[in-house]
Amino acid sequence: MSNLVAPLFEPLQLGSLRLNNRIVMAPMTRNFSPGGVPGEDVAGYYSRRALGETGLIITEGVGVDHPSALGEAGIGESDLPHLYGEAALAGWRRVVEQVHAVGGRIFPQLWHQGVMRLQGTGPNPHIPSSRPSGIWGPPAGLTSSPADYVAAQLVPTTAMSEEDIADVIAGYARSAAHAKALGFDGIAIHGAHGYLIDTFLWCVTNARTDAWGGDRKARSRFAVEVVKAIRTAVGPELPILFRFSQWKQQDFKARLAATPEELQDVLLPIAEAGVDVFDASVRYFNRAEFADIKGSDGELNLAGWAKKVTGCMSMTVGGVGLENGMYDSNKQGGAHSSNNFQLLMARYERGEFDLVGVGRSLLQDPNWASKARQGQVFEPFSNESLSVLT
Ligand SMILES: Cc1cc2nc3c(=O)[nH]c(=O)nc-3n(C[C@H](O)[C@H](O)[C@H](O)COP(=O)(O)O)c2cc1C
Repeated sequence: MSNLVAPLFEPLQLGSLRLNNRIVMAPMTRNFSPGGVPGEDVAGYYSRRALGETGLIITEGVGVDHPSALGEAGIGESDLPHLYGEAALAGWRRVVEQVHAVGGRIFPQLWHQGVMRLQGTGPNPHIPSSRPSGIWGPPAGLTSSPADYVAAQLVPTTAMSEEDIADVIAGYARSAAHAKALGFDGIAIHGAHGYLIDTFLWCVTNARTDAWGGDRKARSRFAVEVVKAIRTAVGPELPILFRFSQWKQQDFKARLAATPEELQDVLLPIAEAGVDVFDASVRYFNRAEFADIKGSDGELNLAGWAKKVTGCMSMTVGGVGLENGMYDSNKQGGAHSSNNFQLLMARYERGEFDLVGVGRSLLQDPNWASKARQGQVFEPFSNESLSVLT
């Protein structure tokens, strides 16, 4: 196996940043930052993954500097970190320093929960949740969110005003500027899974008739303005990675794009705003995204299509080294490891993606990357690793 994945251990130049290899720790919410402040335990957790040869770490979602960025979103959050204020910034500085001390590289994942934040929760309960059109999602989407949460969220609220939109964008820019000042090596933007940015992209939650809504390109405007503001805040050098997904937590069957042309309408404006890498969030990397496309392109997964329609680099993720995707393993109580490296590498060798995201496997085994390089046996995955910080 070591020979098989050896190409992933070639360095990659990402703008001015050089990564030692192409294995990326996927962003994973951990709930271990009381008061929004990551402590020594969080620094140790990330630096262990860096020491284990993970080429790039993307942190858990980190709340941007906006009062409705974080709250309860139906997944049992309590101690989510944020990226503003003296104490949290000092905590993140320690994380960055410890990761750098062992040769690692790290991006924060900038996160605004948007419609997923339950009204009245989080550090600023009196501030309304940010919803493009006051809509949480469809009334009968396929979701794993608890029924009482969904019922509360389905109540329509007011739509964001121009001023609200400008405030949120400014909050992203402030947190990105903090990230740069702290020494982070790039910025990851959470534009997926039904959170704020994604709800501007999605026609179900964006029914606006002003310049923030309309067709796919028009619905990308919010993401475009966020990327532009971040680019201005961090300058031309720092790499920006943008995560997107077809599926939403409000409806696992949702799709932003049914064809490559539609995907290009969504992503190309965002690419042109200053993105370097698209991170295509799916549960199973080995699935063709647009099954009715003929010829060799018909095999491409979502990361492959993102790269093709934008010309940017891309990252694949979803079940690398594991038999079961994230929601399936939650239901089944765990996941068996899978030797799916051959399938992964066949796609990599065809140039579908440049980076490989690894989620749950890296929770279980901080040395996952070095073991992959050396062909060693991984720790078997169990769901217990989701609720501890080791
Ligand atoms: C415990 C846990 C927390 C997660 N939190 C986030 C998050 O904060 N932001 C995000 O974009 N994705 C999040 N994800 C999704 C992962 O980044 C990744 O896409 C998913 O786990 C699939 O990769 P895997 O099959 O290698 O685990 C989370 C996944 C898990 C298991």
